[in-house]
Amino acid sequence: MDTAKQEAGYRAAGFVRDGMVIGIGTGSTVLYAMERIVHRIREENLSILGVPTSHQAAFRAVEMGIPLTSLDSHPSLDLAIDGADQVDPAKLMIKGRGAAHLREKCVADAARQFIVVVDDSKCVAELNGKIPIEVLPFACMPVIRKLSEYGGRAEIRTGSGKDGPVISDNGNIIMDCLFERIEDPKSLERELAMIPGIVASGLFTQYADKTTVIVGKK
Ligand code: A5P
Repeated sequence: MDTAKQEAGYRAAGFVRDGMVIGIGTGSTVLYAMERIVHRIREENLSILGVPTSHQAAFRAVEMGIPLTSLDSHPSLDLAIDGADQVDPAKLMIKGRGAAHLREKCVADAARQFIVVVDDSKCVAELNGKIPIEVLPFACMPVIRKLSEYGGRAEIRTGSGKDGPVISDNGNIIMDCLFERIEDPKSLERELAMIPGIVASGLFTQYADKTTVIVGKK
């Protein structure tokens, strides 16, 4: 068991109040938050609804007995709990290792409060390395070419026990794009969003004001 992730997840569950509609993120740290939320539902008779950010989150919620709803039914969420791959001191983030960042971004955007759960290996002085990018299959090669004009080296993600590309829950291709240095993450997120064919990048730079980062300790 990863005690740092568990501690972060359990602390995040403490933000949930009776009657809330919450976004449920994807990844191993959020699973601990879900575990604790289920405990609170039973112990405190909490009534909550969750909007899942992935098939993983939805299936686990169903198994655990967390009632689900959708963004269409609840376009405004009280809070969202999610993990991250990197968080900098300004609460800018890279997400998408699990290929769920498109729905995670929709849910974070809809939430009044964004609770991010990480262990301290995710805390960095400056965002760096590969940025996950979800791309419309129709436009993969033009997107790769366009990214190279911005200084990015993009590769289509493979693996996860499947031959060929990793396909997101939305039927799109996942790429990982390496930039030598991410000097201005906010501008880069905007520039990537302007490239036709890119559905969402894993840069999360717009939500710092409503973000609480919980760093779990071992
Ligand atoms: C899913 O695509 C990601 O954005 C996850 O939220 C992120 O990778 C964190 O996952 P862990 O909590 O498993 O590290």
